[in-house]
Amino acid sequence: MAERVEVLLSEKEVDERIQAIGEQISKDYAGKQVHLVCVLKGGSFFLCELAKRISVPVSLDFMSVSSYGSDTKSSGVIKIVKDLDDSIKDKDVIVVEDIVDSGRTLSYLLKMLQDRGPKSLALCTLLDKPERRVIDVEVNYTGFQIPDEFVVGYGLDYDQRYRNLPYIGIVKFD
Ligand code: IMP
Ligand code: MG
Repeated sequence: MAERVEVLLSEKEVDERIQAIGEQISKDYAGKQVHLVCVLKGGSFFLCELAKRISVPVSLDFMSVSSYGSDTKSSGVIKIVKDLDDSIKDKDVIVVEDIVDSGRTLSYLLKMLQDRGPKSLALCTLLDKPERRVIDVEVNYTGFQIPDEFVVGYGLDYDQRYRNLPYIGIVKFD
């Protein structure tokens, strides 16, 4: 199917917002080390940009959970495809996500991570679609709240494409 991408948030807008979140996290975690947990693959671009802008010591880990297939609707099926390499026990953990949509993925993930005994657990998401929420999730840092549109870029894909766009765009089918 032919589709095109319309810019929703420019590269400059996204960069400036990530800078601000990085500064906020650096303040909130002053004197501590933050352990950033990136949810692959979508969170990877945001994680790199964010981590560069945090001035307190940072360590990183990655995990992958399945949620979406090539469809644009949530399957509701969540499984751990790749678990973290390291223990998060007694660490100040921030989960870095691309987007909170229904909240299913994050609600499952946060419960699972909480059970592993981190010193603290926070959630940082680049995008939030509050209108779509099915399960309540507490978000500590949000880049942008966006309308209920299917978006790509900055790590987000449509059928595995467009992750590399340096801006956030809306996929239009016409
Ligand atoms: P949730 O469990 O419904 O909150 O789904 C979250 C996951 O769905 C995200 O981590 C994305 O991988 C995917 N997702 C949700 N909305 C979009 C979108 O607009 N574009 C691309 N992926 C999305
Ligand atoms: Mg994701």
